[in-house]
Amino acid sequence: MLDESRNRLLTQVGAGTPMGGLLRRYWMPIAAVNEFDNKSIKPVRLLGENLTLYKDLSGTYGLVDRHCPHRRADLAYGFVEQCGIRCNYHGWLFDQDGHCTEQPYEDVAQPQANFKDKIRITSYPVQTKAGLIWAYLGPEPAPLVPDWEPFTWKNGFVEIVFAEVPCNWFQCQENSIDPLHFEWMHMNWSVRLKDQVGPYSPRHVRIEFEEFDYGFVYRRLREGMSESDPMWTTGRVCLWPNTLFTGDHFEWRVPIDDENTLSVTWAFTRIPKEREPYVQDKIPAWYGPVRDENNGGWISSHIMNQDFVAWVGQGVVADRTKEHLGSSDRGIILQRQRFLSDLESIARGEDPKAIIRDPAINRSVSLPVAERKLLVDGLTRAELLAHPILGHHYAGDYVFQAGRPAEVAAAFKEAMGI
Ligand code: FES
Ligand SMILES: [Fe+2]
Repeated sequence: MLDESRNRLLTQVGAGTPMGGLLRRYWMPIAAVNEFDNKSIKPVRLLGENLTLYKDLSGTYGLVDRHCPHRRADLAYGFVEQCGIRCNYHGWLFDQDGHCTEQPYEDVAQPQANFKDKIRITSYPVQTKAGLIWAYLGPEPAPLVPDWEPFTWKNGFVEIVFAEVPCNWFQCQENSIDPLHFEWMHMNWSVRLKDQVGPYSPRHVRIEFEEFDYGFVYRRLREGMSESDPMWTTGRVCLWPNTLFTGDHFEWRVPIDDENTLSVTWAFTRIPKEREPYVQDKIPAWYGPVRDENNGGWISSHIMNQDFVAWVGQGVVADRTKEHLGSSDRGIILQRQRFLSDLESIARGEDPKAIIRDPAINRSVSLPVAERKLLVDGLTRAELLAHPILGHHYAGDYVFQAGRPAEVAAAFKEAMGI
C-alpha cells in the first residue's frame, strides 16, 4: 500500500507537481497524422493543460494554448494560415514558436507601437513519428522522440487506436507490469463472458521482473509451459514511463489530467509472406468507445476494453491506502520505487530513466520482442493462423479494442489477403 501523500505524489500530473514535471520530460503521443487529412485543428487536453494542436497551410504542426492571449477566445475555433493559427475573434495570428505575427487592426492603426512583439502565446514543440504526433511540454533542451525498432519494421499493417478512459493514468500504467491479470481478466473472464464455466486457462506458476535501460521486462511461466517458451525467455515490456510494449503493439497511457487518460495504441500486424512486399501508404487512426450503450456499463468484449474495466473500476484515482499487495505485485512495487527515485534524480538536476538524447543511439532502438521471427521475418498465412498467441489476429477482426471502423477493417483484410 501507499500512504495518501505518496499516492498523491505518484498520481498528480499538473504543471508544478513532481510527477507532472517528470512526465513532461518525455514526448507524449497525442494524435495521429492521419487525423489531419480532413481537419486542421484539434483541441487537446494534456497533463491538465488545455491546448490547441494545428497543422497550418504549409504543413507545419503547432501546439499552442487553447485561449487567445488577446481576450481569451477559443483557438480551437480559429483557422490556420500559411504560417500559424489565427484567432477567429479579431484575427491575431500566432506561429508554432508562440510569436504573435499579426494583429490586423493594431498593425494598421498603431504600427509604431509594435504591440505584437510584446505578446507570446504558450507553445510546445511537436514532432511526427510512426504516424503519431508527439508533444513535449518539458524543459529545454528536449530529448529525442524514441525511434523504437518496430517503427522501422517492414511489411506490416499498422493502425493507431485511441480511447479516452475516465481515470488516472498511473493505475493504467500499473497494468503494464501485471502479468497475472492476463490469466484472469483476459483468459478466464472471457470464458465466463461467453456463458461457459470452463475450462480455465493454465495458471501462472512463476513470474519474474527485471529492469533494463528502457523499463522493466516481465516474464511468466504457466502450467505446462516449457522454460524455453518466449514468454519466459524474453517476456514483455513495461516501457518507461507510461507504456506497455508487447512486441507487436505499444499502449501509451497519456495523462489528459488527474482524472482522465488517453489510451494510444500503435499496433503492428505482420502481413503473410505471400503478400510481400507490402508498403502501407497511410496509417489509419480511430477512436474506440469505452461505454456499452446497451447496458450503460463498460464494453468488455475486447482485450483492452477489459483492461479499461479494471482501471476505471479502481476508482477515478485508485486509493492505494486500502490495497493489499501480494507476491504477484512485485512489479507494481518496483515501478513505484523507480518513479520515486526518478523524482530524486530530477531534483538533483539529472535526467530521469530512459531519456534518449544521442542521435547515434536513437536509431531503431532495440527492445525485447518475444515473437521477433514472426514479426520481422514473417510467416506464411497458414503458419500465422496456427500461431498460439498471435494466430487470432489473422482471422480478420481487431482483437484489442471495440469499434474498428469498416474502412479500416477493409484495409486490414486487403493487406492480409483475407
Ligand atoms: S480574442 Fe483572439 S484576436 Fe481577439
Ligand atoms: Fe490486459
